[in-house]
Amino acid sequence: MSMSETKVRVWDLPVRVFHWLLIPLIAFSWWSAEEGRLDWHRLSGYAVLTLIVFRLVWGLIGSETARFARFLKGLRGIANYVGKKSDGPTLGHNPLGGWSVFAMLFLLAAQVTLGLFAIDVDGIESGPLAVFVTFDQGRVAAEIHHFIFNVLLALIGLHVLAILYYALFGRQNLVGPMITGRKSVAASPAQTPALAPLWLALIVLGASAALAYAASKAFWSF
Ligand code: HEM
Repeated sequence: MSMSETKVRVWDLPVRVFHWLLIPLIAFSWWSAEEGRLDWHRLSGYAVLTLIVFRLVWGLIGSETARFARFLKGLRGIANYVGKKSDGPTLGHNPLGGWSVFAMLFLLAAQVTLGLFAIDVDGIESGPLAVFVTFDQGRVAAEIHHFIFNVLLALIGLHVLAILYYALFGRQNLVGPMITGRKSVAASPAQTPALAPLWLALIVLGASAALAYAASKAFWSF
């Protein structure tokens, strides 16, 4: 860090915990499905469901850099960014990264939702909400559940490549801030991103876990 650089908090604790928990959970979900350990697979799916519901709500009421309204920009915002007309490094997701983040979150949400309704070929294993759909509908859910995972893998690959690109060619360390929450910038920005209180994150997390628990019990059918 040069003398004139200053550290700004860009990522709050909830976003960082969300991100680093997601990686082992996705790996574990894949592994447990491959091994046919559907009991473990369902449990890890409920954990991903809790995280994703949390993150979607946090995107509406959380800290400034976590909010969709801040990082989802229209075509002009993207064009300005790509044309380097925007001023200084982005505090939070840049307009290009923002949409890839949204795509990952959206696909993850679709992935866990479909898993809740999925039924396997012989009808022995199923998601907890499969009681509400026919066998054929459950099979379609399972097929799309498989397909989306491959799309998600491609997006994750792109995500990691983009981060490598910024490190190698853009001289920007994005991983450090996702660990510590702080980013070095050349000059103090006029305004630093506002942080939402941790108690609010805990309430949203509790409500998300309650929803995942209700889904795991097929709501009212048990
Ligand atoms: C299963 C694999 C992964 C998934 C699903 C994933 C997903 C995500 C998501 C959803 C975000 C947005 C965070 C938020 O706003 O809540 C994000 C950001 C980020 N991820 Fe990952 N990620 C994965 C792997 C990785 C890995 C392996 C690294 C490290 C090399 C990484 C580094 C980052 C960084 C640095 C950011 C912030 C980017 C920025 O500054 O805009 N991710 N990731």
